[in-house]
Amino acid sequence: MERTSLSRREMTMPRMVIIVCIAMLGVACSQQQPAETPAAEKSTAADSLFVPPDTSTIPKNATGDLIRYGRELLVNFPYYLGPKGKIGQFGGNGLGCQNCHLEAGTRPYGLNYFSAHARYPQYRAREGKVLTLADRVNNCVERPLNGKPLPLDSKEMVAMVTYMQWLGKGVPVGGNVPGDKLKEIALLDRPADPKKGRAVYEQHCVRCHGDDGQGVLKEDGIAYVYPPLWGKLSYQPGSSMHRVIKAAQFIKYNMPQDLARWDKPVLTDEEAIDVAAYVNDDHLHERPQPDLTSEYPKLKEKPVDYYFPPFADVFPQEQHKYGPFKPIMEWRKKNGHPTGY
Ligand code: HEC
Ligand code: HEC
Repeated sequence: MERTSLSRREMTMPRMVIIVCIAMLGVACSQQQPAETPAAEKSTAADSLFVPPDTSTIPKNATGDLIRYGRELLVNFPYYLGPKGKIGQFGGNGLGCQNCHLEAGTRPYGLNYFSAHARYPQYRAREGKVLTLADRVNNCVERPLNGKPLPLDSKEMVAMVTYMQWLGKGVPVGGNVPGDKLKEIALLDRPADPKKGRAVYEQHCVRCHGDDGQGVLKEDGIAYVYPPLWGKLSYQPGSSMHRVIKAAQFIKYNMPQDLARWDKPVLTDEEAIDVAAYVNDDHLHERPQPDLTSEYPKLKEKPVDYYFPPFADVFPQEQHKYGPFKPIMEWRKKNGHPTGY
């Protein structure tokens, strides 16, 4: 289990040790002394990563049952709530949360849920209002999953949010912990190039996601072995994964899935950006076409790599899609606009 290799890092972070010890509910921390792993020794960046509690520490009571159910939904969403779900049909395609929020949302720099509960409710620029964590979950059900929102008070919604809360126990309210965001990459001084990205795709991605980007469905026809990266069954434009910088950050430190990790990426920043542009190229690949006109009611707040007009800055649509992004950020900074992506 992951724990043993992570324990050494805990020893270097007293606060984490305390959190983990509490989470371990009586399991003596000294017993968590790890077998030495040279890789962990060398990796200073990994030393301070947040360590989520182990599933064996989920309490054996009604709350624990809810946490376990929430985790199960987040791992196997399509079986419960997808188009063929046994509890209800909310997801509009076969994608599940874990196709992006890797390892039940516990992977550092892999779209984890470490600080999700601690940072909501929060103001969201896309809606121009404050959302709760449950609202934010529904965002992902509606966009990447192309579906319809779950009732906020449903057992399933409460279970997912309760799992996220348990996972982030000890994260300061409103705060971040190391490893919770996507990892930064260096932006390019040229536009991302889908043609170069195609070559990267052929070399590193085709073997799982397929030449046609449609992935591989499991034999049961309900969930994916390898999820699709474009097409009508993939995530909508308007999903964060459709934005070149976000997608590149995810891809660089998590894909190819069997080889890459935050501390041993396979692609260079340049390759990650180009392949993200190829995957997300709307000229080459179709996707569902939602109405995005009410997104970002305050134009200034559009992320630099969100490319549906109108824009509050002076840059053309193509540049918001492919970059270069630095000039946009510099212009925005000078003019007092948000510079985020
Ligand atoms: C196609 C990929 C994809 C799928 C599938 C997906 N998400 Fe997301 N989700 C994202 C991205 C990208 C973000 C934005 C992360 C960021 O802004 O850095 C996000 C953000 C979130 C957040 C906010 C996290 C935070 O810390 O702010 C939550 C909660 C969330 N997703 C839940 C879910 C749930 C639950 C499902 C399944 C019903 C799901 N997502 C499916 C890609 C996906
Ligand atoms: C060894 C197989 C494999 C390879 C190679 C691979 N992936 Fe993936 N990819 C996966 C799996 C499996 C998932 C779903 C996450 C999971 O289940 O762990 C995924 C998820 C994704 C996602 C998020 C889910 C979605 O539907 O959008 C993106 C984006 C992605 N991969 C892009 C890439 C890119 C780009 C490459 C090449 C650089 C690549 N992958 C190479 C197996 C692979």
